[in-house]
Amino acid sequence: SCSDENDYDHLFKMVLIGDSGVGKSSILSQFDRNVFSLDFKSTFGVEFISKIVKIEGKNIKAQLWDTAGKERSKSDGPYVRYTVCSATQDLIPRGALGAVLVYDVTRRNTFENVKMWLKELRDHVDSSHVVLVGNKTDLKNLREVTTEDGAALAESEGWSFVETSALDSTNVDKAFQILLTEIY
Ligand code: GTP
Ligand code: MG
Repeated sequence: SCSDENDYDHLFKMVLIGDSGVGKSSILSQFDRNVFSLDFKSTFGVEFISKIVKIEGKNIKAQLWDTAGKERSKSDGPYVRYTVCSATQDLIPRGALGAVLVYDVTRRNTFENVKMWLKELRDHVDSSHVVLVGNKTDLKNLREVTTEDGAALAESEGWSFVETSALDSTNVDKAFQILLTEIY
């Protein structure tokens, strides 16, 4: 196969951001290892995974940085200085080419906070490649954000948009495929 760790044509660094609990780590673990757990273990600091993905016949090494939503939400408001000085500098790695911006379709406030994350992105990511991801579509009865709302926000910002479920893995691969194709 072509997925040897060192056999790749490009390295793309990308970051997952969004409020705590929206499912960033779950999306990543589903993408990386096809593993899902209902336990909530909040991420501290940053971790990344690497995976070779094929785009237009080329092997792309996707380096995906998982970040902690919690450090961010500890602040009193969106633009509190301390977060920007300490946490976010580490939270969002330098040189990222794109971002997966995740909210939880069952929690409206995580969708409202997308605007705040956008500000973080503009300050730290070298590109405008963003995929907006509405996660947890499997929780149909708990939905608070419609597909139309998500699509409209993405369109107004010029982003791609997809709804996912890290639990049943719906559209998880697609989210990364969209972003990688855009960067490529
Ligand atoms: P932080 O690390 O604190 O920023 O949170 P996170 O965004 O990484 O969230 P995480 O992936 O840890 O998921 C939080 C909780 O939501 C966990 O209990 C997951 O099992 C659950 N969860 C994540 N994705 C889904 C999903 O698609 N469907 C359902 N039903 N639960 C999910
Ligand atoms: Mg996490």
